[in-house]
Amino acid sequence: MADPARLAAVRVLLAVLPAGGDGQSLRDALPPALTGLKDSERGLAQDLAYGVCRHYRRLHHWLNSHLDKPLKSSARSVELAMLCGIHELWFSQRPAHAVVNAWPGVMRDLKAPWASGLANALLRQAADADVEAVLAAQKPAVRYSLPGWLWARLREAWPEQCHAVAAALLDPPPFTVRLSPEAPADGPQQWQQAGIEARQGDLAPSAWTLSPARAAAAVPGFSEGWVSIQDEAAQLPVGALLEKPLPRAARVLDACAAPGGKTGQLLERQPDMRLLALDASTQRLQRVADNLSRLGRQAALKTGDATQPQAWFDGEPFDAVLLDAPCSATGIIRRQPDVRWHRQADDIPALCGLQADMLDALWPLIAPGGVLVYATCSILPEENSEQIAAFLARHADARDDTPALADAAGGPGCQLLPGTGDYDGFYFCRLQKIGDNDPVQP
Ligand SMILES: C[S@@+](CC[C@H](N)C(=O)[O-])C[C@H]1O[C@@H](n2cnc3c(N)ncnc32)[C@H](O)[C@@H]1O
Repeated sequence: MADPARLAAVRVLLAVLPAGGDGQSLRDALPPALTGLKDSERGLAQDLAYGVCRHYRRLHHWLNSHLDKPLKSSARSVELAMLCGIHELWFSQRPAHAVVNAWPGVMRDLKAPWASGLANALLRQAADADVEAVLAAQKPAVRYSLPGWLWARLREAWPEQCHAVAAALLDPPPFTVRLSPEAPADGPQQWQQAGIEARQGDLAPSAWTLSPARAAAAVPGFSEGWVSIQDEAAQLPVGALLEKPLPRAARVLDACAAPGGKTGQLLERQPDMRLLALDASTQRLQRVADNLSRLGRQAALKTGDATQPQAWFDGEPFDAVLLDAPCSATGIIRRQPDVRWHRQADDIPALCGLQADMLDALWPLIAPGGVLVYATCSILPEENSEQIAAFLARHADARDDTPALADAAGGPGCQLLPGTGDYDGFYFCRLQKIGDNDPVQP
């Protein structure tokens, strides 16, 4: 095999973006394809697979406008290999002649020798293209490499910010970690000594953006349990939940816990809480167990459906509930660029229905005076502020108690948009259950 890295990238993309159908997620498809590759080959394969998912619509548009006729669906691997080549020319630092010379050989490895000459000719043209001018001439959905429905929704929801948001969704994500309150005082110096630059977050003091990015296990503190990988915005919901102190040994529910990022954060912040970590997926709950064991923390873990508490609730009310609900993941598209193509417009009403069912099912389990923090990594108002506005209209004993945040766009709750700061798109809302001694709102 002449070029295992480029070939692996094409095979991953074939699994993630098959011709005319649902594909696997990048997260599932990539790891098995990387086994057996050298470190440098893994880097190239990963860069191409992520990059083509990210820029797919831009690359595809350029390719089709330079072919006499579109490639047949049976030639999908050839098409994806062409997109990888164009991506490498436009968005990597590798020399153009090396890229142009590499891909004809990959076509032969793909058992498509007929495409070698075509690849050579097209990649020469792509190498000469003025990329900025090519992209600027496209309509926004192509320029921002978004499906039409999602661009239309962003434009409607965020008329002033939509261009900045769509552009930010194309950026590579920052590498942000959470520093435990029990980290050694010289934690950040340990990173510096390991050649890592670190910048503390403006919104969450526990958040540190590290560069260059590296494997989690290579960050001092990760194996020891005082560092976890977590975006800055994703660190805010637990901060909001614990903004006002909970009682000692408070009973807390993490209702959609897996893989356990926020479960660990809750226990780091208040180790004496009695935490129940619930998730519908037993398999994903294992990742919560693994995370907690790395952090040296304990919680009760339970497989269960958050919309059906009668199957798992023991009757003792919770002081606090964290509902980090399943959502469109539109705020984290730069981390999971395949979400652009896998998420469909008609998934959104179904997700909104599930989120509303979860909110309504969990609210009665909270003690008067208790709190529920609702969070999503979505930037669509129907999953966020509109969802919570409808919840507040249905529940007279709920009030919005979200801490104010300067960066937030639109309430109730706090919506963070990609591009405003160095964090993902995220939403959270702190809902207070009116206590027996609180005045009921008219
Ligand atoms: C956004 S993720 C949670 C991320 C997690 N809180 C963290 O910080 O690592 C949503 C989770 O909801 C779970 N889920 C989906 N439907 C559910 C349901 N009906 N009941 C409970 N959990 C559910 C999924 O398995 C998934 O693990």
